[in-house]
Amino acid sequence: MPAKIHVVANQKGGVGKTTLAVNLGAVAHAVLSGENNPLKAATPQDGPSPVLVVSTDPQGSSVWWSGRVKENGGLPFDFSQVDDPKLLGRLRTLNYAHIIVDTPGSLEDDRILQAALDQCDDVIVPMTPEPLSYEPTRLTINQVVAPRGIPYRVVVNNWDPRDGLTDLQQTAKFIAACGWPMCDTVVRRYKLHTRASAEGQVVTQYPKNRTASEAREDFLRLALELGYGGSPAGVPRQAGAQALVEEG
Ligand SMILES: Nc1ncnc2c1ncn2[C@@H]1O[C@H](COP(=O)(O)OP(=O)(O)OP(=O)(O)O)[C@@H](O)[C@H]1O
Ligand SMILES: [Mg+2]
Repeated sequence: MPAKIHVVANQKGGVGKTTLAVNLGAVAHAVLSGENNPLKAATPQDGPSPVLVVSTDPQGSSVWWSGRVKENGGLPFDFSQVDDPKLLGRLRTLNYAHIIVDTPGSLEDDRILQAALDQCDDVIVPMTPEPLSYEPTRLTINQVVAPRGIPYRVVVNNWDPRDGLTDLQQTAKFIAACGWPMCDTVVRRYKLHTRASAEGQVVTQYPKNRTASEAREDFLRLALELGYGGSPAGVPRQAGAQALVEEG
């Protein structure tokens, strides 16, 4: 079966493209590698991974992150930096179940993003629950993604439950008003995620404690919702974005 190619895109910088690409790669690897309990800390890769994460960002924050992880024993999944957009055409011939492509956040030069979209099966559009994210996300979806007819889903990332529901509800209403499909999973803000690149860890390598499991669950739930294999059994339920909105 040809690899399924998922592009993570939003021309707004700092919404979590790299965080989602790398951590979705980690949980998809854990689920697809048949680990009995995908919530347990993953061991470094000892065979071929079913998952490849590709960075196309010339600034390469995921490259730096992966370098830090290597110092700590290695990424569980395969990782590659692709600078020449023409090479993206070869992705489909590679032997992976899922290829997750991280793209740069820039409204000016969208050639790399366009080249990645040429190859993909679907698009994940992360956005943060704040009004500053609205307009750039609208431009990315309405001008770049939707006109191509590629399936896409918006994921709200970096929501801090301590801030209350207002921003999340407003963002979900904005997404609904735009008519965009939204993932039920909301990725919450955890200091662990912010620190992970410097710590040289991906989400499946976080220490075993309650906060880390909660932080990991969001990505596991998201990977399952996006259909990256496995069954949601054993994953604690989240109220879900829709339910949170209806509640308010
Ligand atoms: N759920 C989260 N919890 C905590 N911190 C987060 C979360 N998501 C992202 N961050 C932090 O926010 C910052 C921006 O995230 P990230 O680099 O993933 O965004 P990006 O969209 O890839 O940015 P760019 O457009 O510059 O490539 C990083 O410091 C990251 O650690
Ligand atoms: Mg990035």
